[in-house]
Amino acid sequence: MDNNKIVVFDTTLRDGEQSPGCSMNTEEKIKVAKQLEKLGVDVIEAGFAAASPGDFDAVSRIAEQVEKSSICSLSRAVENDIKQAALAVQKAKMHRIHTFIATSPIHMKYKLKMSEEEVIKRAVYAVEYARTFVDDVEFSLEDAGRSEISFMKEVMDAVIAAGATTINLPDTVGYRLPTELGAMVKELSDFAANRAIISVHNHNDLGLATANTLAAVTNGARQIEVTMNGLGERAGNSALEESVMAIKTRRDAFKDLYTNINTKEIYATSRLVATITGVEPQQNKAIVGKNAFAHESGIHQDGVLKHQETYEIMRPEDVGVIKDSTLILGKHSGRAAFKDKITNLGFDTVTSEELNSAFEKFKILADKKKEVTDDDIRMLITDESLNQDKIYELVGLQISDCSNGVPTAAVSIKHNDEILIDANIGNGTMDAIFKTIDRLTGYSGELQSYNVISVTEGKDALAKVTTRVLFDESSPSFVGHGLSVDTMLATANAYVSALNSYLSQKERLAKNSEHQV
Ligand code: KIV
Ligand code: ZN
Repeated sequence: MDNNKIVVFDTTLRDGEQSPGCSMNTEEKIKVAKQLEKLGVDVIEAGFAAASPGDFDAVSRIAEQVEKSSICSLSRAVENDIKQAALAVQKAKMHRIHTFIATSPIHMKYKLKMSEEEVIKRAVYAVEYARTFVDDVEFSLEDAGRSEISFMKEVMDAVIAAGATTINLPDTVGYRLPTELGAMVKELSDFAANRAIISVHNHNDLGLATANTLAAVTNGARQIEVTMNGLGERAGNSALEESVMAIKTRRDAFKDLYTNINTKEIYATSRLVATITGVEPQQNKAIVGKNAFAHESGIHQDGVLKHQETYEIMRPEDVGVIKDSTLILGKHSGRAAFKDKITNLGFDTVTSEELNSAFEKFKILADKKKEVTDDDIRMLITDESLNQDKIYELVGLQISDCSNGVPTAAVSIKHNDEILIDANIGNGTMDAIFKTIDRLTGYSGELQSYNVISVTEGKDALAKVTTRVLFDESSPSFVGHGLSVDTMLATANAYVSALNSYLSQKERLAKNSEHQV
């Protein structure tokens, strides 16, 4: 084993997806997983297979489609969870089962109502059972941050003997300070010696997740559990981009430690996750925030122009932030220039249908907008790839009176080659649009969140709308994406897109259960 390699375990699709408003459907998870593979992540925690049929479906389809990263499913230390995890990851080229039980006094007493002996017994059984399916088993001591060292040693001895290959020490509630967490990791990694890899999983409740992850690495941890953009339960997890770039930028401090991450893919991954979930990183977020490489003060701008390193410790290019190129497309640009541009922007897996459809949209946009920038094109391509399920397709929208009269929307929608037309009034324009779409399709959605950003500056900028809509109490809410220079048109498209996402997931799960019968 290479003792300088830090294994990057990404849990965006599991812990990240647990953040409020971040659930994704299977197709979206597959897109994120493929991008994580391109990023160079070693282990992708693709979900919690036993949690729902949707989770199982996502983990198993990711297992079939990702080759270079190991695919992992979380499971509680119970037989059925482990079995579901094993079934879901079985088709992956490389796979892992991650099982866990809490070891802190507070969790054992109040949540589990189990004694220390019972916890050890259950942990050993879980690891042994997982080992009957796979060779690579990770065991987490949930709430390790508040567990007693002597008990953790007992648990570690037992689960390592049972076959665990990685021991994860989560600071589940983000309680520890870096000095404390570093000392805990040092003691436990010395204790494990070469018997298992020590991993950390830090939550950000005190804003210390990345500091704790880095303290752990300098004290012997050789796996870090992280998420893109720091998504995760409550205040989130340690952000992949932060730990990876700290290790790379501060080689002097981290000596020969390294990760396999292709840092030039960081920005693209961050954008994909933000676009899919509709959760944008804060503007001043380290590495991937909009302002991470922006210099506002004159003194700073002057310094950077004279010598980049005066105010920049990393080059934007190193994380894949590329300033808009000088080749800006306009309405006279042809298909070849468009294709060339998207290849240069790093979209190397675009299908010919996606390309054709995005090119059509580009032409319409170029008629309305003088200069189509790289950001516009990135958004066109991403939007196209996220809207492949066109069960319903918006073909026309007319709205009237947003001031003193009665807000009205007339909508035409294509469904099964038929054009459906209707109109409705509402309390506001958006309400009128959504009500009309509901009546046309026969589904009634509850709008849970609505977000609009402008892709570039300027009055003619593209509006990118993300909606999160609940169509059915028994399934999660679905995200929809709409893109247009007209915000209301983007809104209507985003609502229809959420409906398509809901319907296609429902259809897939129904087919899966037919196969299982
Ligand atoms: O935070 C936590 O403890 C977890 C475990 C399930 C690893 O997410
Ligand atoms: Zn967690």
